Amino acid sequence: MSQAPILITGGAQRLGRYCAERLHDDGHPVIITYRREREAVEALRKQGIQAIQADFSTDTGIAAFIDHLGEATPRLRAIIHNASQWRADIDNDETGQAFEALFRIHMQAPYMINMRCRELLEACQEPMRDIIHITDYAAQKGSRNHVAYAATKAGLDNLTRSFAALYGPSIKVNAIAPASIMLNEDDDDAYADYLRDKSIMATTPGPAVIWQSVRYLLDNPFVTGVTLPVDGGRHVK
Ligand SMILES: NC(=O)c1ccc[n+]([C@@H]2O[C@H](COP(=O)([O-])OP(=O)(O)OC[C@H]3O[C@@H](n4cnc5c(N)ncnc54)[C@H](OP(=O)(O)O)[C@@H]3O)[C@@H](O)[C@H]2O)c1
Repeated sequence: MSQAPILITGGAQRLGRYCAERLHDDGHPVIITYRREREAVEALRKQGIQAIQADFSTDTGIAAFIDHLGEATPRLRAIIHNASQWRADIDNDETGQAFEALFRIHMQAPYMINMRCRELLEACQEPMRDIIHITDYAAQKGSRNHVAYAATKAGLDNLTRSFAALYGPSIKVNAIAPASIMLNEDDDDAYADYLRDKSIMATTPGPAVIWQSVRYLLDNPFVTGVTLPVDGGRHVK
């Protein structure tokens, strides 16, 4: 029987893409989701990574993706919930639209995918099966200008403990809570210094530190229901 694939949502760029490529290098079949078709998606396909289009900002988008996933594979080794929008609060979000979109991406999509894909994980014949939620340091701390982002990441963090209790021992469920891992293209030097200054380790380390954490969680048979902070010691600064 061929190896069961690992699904990474939002895997076409940055941290998700880095982890998808390293998993592929390690011999795992990989499925990513992407929203916008672009060169990077095609480059991943050429490497042998399967790509499924998905938009998690609506109920129908989430449901359609789960149907496509079921058609693409009968089993999964792991699910890594990485898709996210780093979206600041809109001053006049009187209708709560911004909050609702982030709720769907960070909480409802992972919840629905975990609920409906349990059978795919349990069909995997390998010794371990995993769900990993990529949250954020802000889930614990809160954020003045990313209130909805921080709150919905906190919801995702909480799902970790519920699903770990519900799905153990056959599926481990953990979270990784990063901070200041990578700069964005339009960040200037002043912002780069500001970000580096926030951690004890005084650096923005790049995606390898998230990959190391993913690998650790996939390989360790006795860790479930935890959130692994990967933040350069921000909480002790
Ligand atoms: N980078 C950091 O320093 C840092 C710090 C703390 C936490 N994190 C967390 O780490 C993860 C990866 O970070 P990143 O910086 O690599 O993120 P990113 O560059 O913003 O990528 C996130 C991915 O999510 C996908 N996505 C966004 N909205 C979506 C939607 N409505 N439906 C489906 N997919 C959607 C995007 O797909 P498309 O590109 O195809 O649109 C994108 O590829 C995220 O969960 C983030 O919150 C990162």
